[in-house]
Amino acid sequence: MAEKGVNIKEAKGKLGVLIPGMGAVGTTLIAGVELVRKGHSRPFGSLTQMGTIRLGKRTDDNVPMIKDFVPLTELDDIVFGGWDIYEDNAYVAAKKAGVLTNDDLNKIKPYLESIKPMKAVFDKKYVKNLDGVNKKSASNKMELAKMLMDDMTKFKEENGLDRLVIVWCGSTEVYLEYSPVWDTIESFEKGLENNEESISSSMIYVYSAIKMGVPYANGAPHMCHDIPALTELAKQHNVAISGKDFKTGQTLIKTIIAPGLKSRMLGVKGWFSTNILGNRDGLVLDEPLSFRSKEVSKASSLDYIFQPEKHPELYGDLYHKIRINYYPPIGDNKEAWDNIDIFGWLGYGMQIKIDFLCRDSILAAPIALDLALFMDLAQRAGMKGIQEWLSFYFKAPMVAEGLYPEHDIFIQHMKLKNTLRYLKGEEMITHLGMEYYD
Ligand SMILES: NC(=O)c1ccc[n+]([C@@H]2O[C@H](COP(=O)([O-])OP(=O)(O)OC[C@H]3O[C@@H](n4cnc5c(N)ncnc54)[C@H](O)[C@@H]3O)[C@@H](O)[C@H]2O)c1
Repeated sequence: MAEKGVNIKEAKGKLGVLIPGMGAVGTTLIAGVELVRKGHSRPFGSLTQMGTIRLGKRTDDNVPMIKDFVPLTELDDIVFGGWDIYEDNAYVAAKKAGVLTNDDLNKIKPYLESIKPMKAVFDKKYVKNLDGVNKKSASNKMELAKMLMDDMTKFKEENGLDRLVIVWCGSTEVYLEYSPVWDTIESFEKGLENNEESISSSMIYVYSAIKMGVPYANGAPHMCHDIPALTELAKQHNVAISGKDFKTGQTLIKTIIAPGLKSRMLGVKGWFSTNILGNRDGLVLDEPLSFRSKEVSKASSLDYIFQPEKHPELYGDLYHKIRINYYPPIGDNKEAWDNIDIFGWLGYGMQIKIDFLCRDSILAAPIALDLALFMDLAQRAGMKGIQEWLSFYFKAPMVAEGLYPEHDIFIQHMKLKNTLRYLKGEEMITHLGMEYYD
């Protein structure tokens, strides 16, 4: 049944995309968008730029581009900015990240040089393997939050922007244990005043964003807005939030392969995943507490896809092991191996080996772009709180309390497209054929 659709505010004027963490992913996003805008490259990997959406029946042959179907901000209307603990401008930071070639970077050098990071809110307690000088200092965390809000206001005014969106591309923070400070908005705000240790730097960014009415997506695996105080604050302020951990590399492949095996009721005894990577992210993840955040985020996908409690014979004994190893010589070009022990008819065993030679930030940058554009769309469509329809982009999708996250990439994809159809009052596509009854 076609709904009437939702009243979506126009994407008028300019959109500021603010990035806490202008490292490998952040600069690959900024440089990539500019290379596309200038006609040097194509935005492969981005659903908002390349994707289509079928409307109506297959025979209708009505398949517009997603960006023509829903009112998304044009790439030309994006203005980038961000924060980092290093003072490097986007050109220097991109060169250090070593993802894009000098040839590509030099085509847009003056533009990249013009993007300089604002002073970050950072505390080494939460990212132990890094430190830098470009940091704010204040007497307490509430003051730091206010400084971030001032940054946002200033950035908006100086660039003549209509609205802002934030995509966290900063380092993975350490794994934090539950604290009662997270329970309510009041306890959280008191915690900001009292410099509570359970409030990480990224939580201060989220708090400031929500207070400013700015939608926020988290590309890293750590806890930040997935605590009751901040999800509630987002709802109260009608702000869209989403997370967490960009679904790239090994988990992308995992959530493509696993639903296929499950769909054929093939059993899985073991899934061993190991990675080597040599970028700064790898260095941060070399620290056990940051790795713990990543491990927790990566581990959950198979459990939810295979549903061992519903299929104990097939997946009840699955041994799932994940390793990430920092290996500097290969830089951003991660290598991810998977060994999968499966079994089929009568229990006969088979093995699948995957060796994915991927480029981490090349996979992450289009996700960050899509999230910026879809989060802005959600905000203009009045969609507040956790944006579960964007689970497609995350390794550990956030969901409302009481729901389990959907990890199967095909279901996530359908959910995303059906949400767009719903927003525009088009019929959902169910793939149900009624021709048998004609
Ligand atoms: N494929 C991928 O690259 C991928 C996939 C999933 C998740 N991620 C996550 O995305 C994030 C970015 O990855 P990357 O490869 O660009 O890492 P990176 O180390 O190159 O960049 C992160 C940047 O964040 C900065 N930073 C850290 N804490 C900050 C703070 N509090 N405020 C402002 N800046 C801060 C660091 O100085 C650094 O420049 C990481 O958390 C990573 O785990 C990346």
